[in-house]
Amino acid sequence: MAGNWKMYKTAGETTAFFEKFIPMVSASTHCDIAICAPFVNLPAAISAAKGSRTGIGAQNLYWGKEGAFTGEVSGPMLKAIGCEWVIVGHSERRQYFGETDATVLKRTQAALEHGLKPIVCVGERLEERESGNTEPVLREQFDGGIAHLTPEQFAQIVIAYEPVWAIGTGKVATPEMACDAHRFLRGLIAAKYGAGQAAASRILYGGSVKPDNVKGLMAQVEIDGALVGGASLEPASFASIVNF
Ligand code: PGA
Repeated sequence: MAGNWKMYKTAGETTAFFEKFIPMVSASTHCDIAICAPFVNLPAAISAAKGSRTGIGAQNLYWGKEGAFTGEVSGPMLKAIGCEWVIVGHSERRQYFGETDATVLKRTQAALEHGLKPIVCVGERLEERESGNTEPVLREQFDGGIAHLTPEQFAQIVIAYEPVWAIGTGKVATPEMACDAHRFLRGLIAAKYGAGQAAASRILYGGSVKPDNVKGLMAQVEIDGALVGGASLEPASFASIVNF
């Protein structure tokens, strides 16, 4: 169960969140818990979550180790402060910041090389779903990106299926729709990396996951977890999703 805080919260608000949130999920051992915070708030989040079961993640990373890349943050920098996870290829990065399947692959490889666990996002836009192109789009994102990982690398990633039309819109995919997309992705994994890997891969659903719809989504066999934006910002709301 992963929270994506996007560009929300100050360092002070980050600390205040964890003071409430950590006790609320301390009995939850059925899943990994992650919060992906803005870069500047990672130290506050890491210190507030220390000793708990909640791991901290970033929302992006650059693929170089260091260098003249003004404004970028690298894998070794994230690792050095105790970051565990990193979101790669979120649709907002694809839409507003020029992310492509090729750069998603480079960032994923860099994350793995530096000991971070990537949560790699894929998903179709509204017009792609409406024109019946969901599966070709997912195939293209898979083939052009993470299908180039070695089997050893692939075994370490988490995939998030996030239909773009469901992100921040309150329009959640029905559990069946999400399940179909997850099944399709698992088929792609099986064809490339084998049935064992397909069964072992964790595929999260993301897009308007809330405390009141998480149960229905998690009841689907193909859905292994959730990547939660808006509903991860309040401790009680994200705790009730984690503790579904
Ligand atoms: P949302 O965002 O839960 O606010 O729809 C999900 C995401 O962008 O990861």
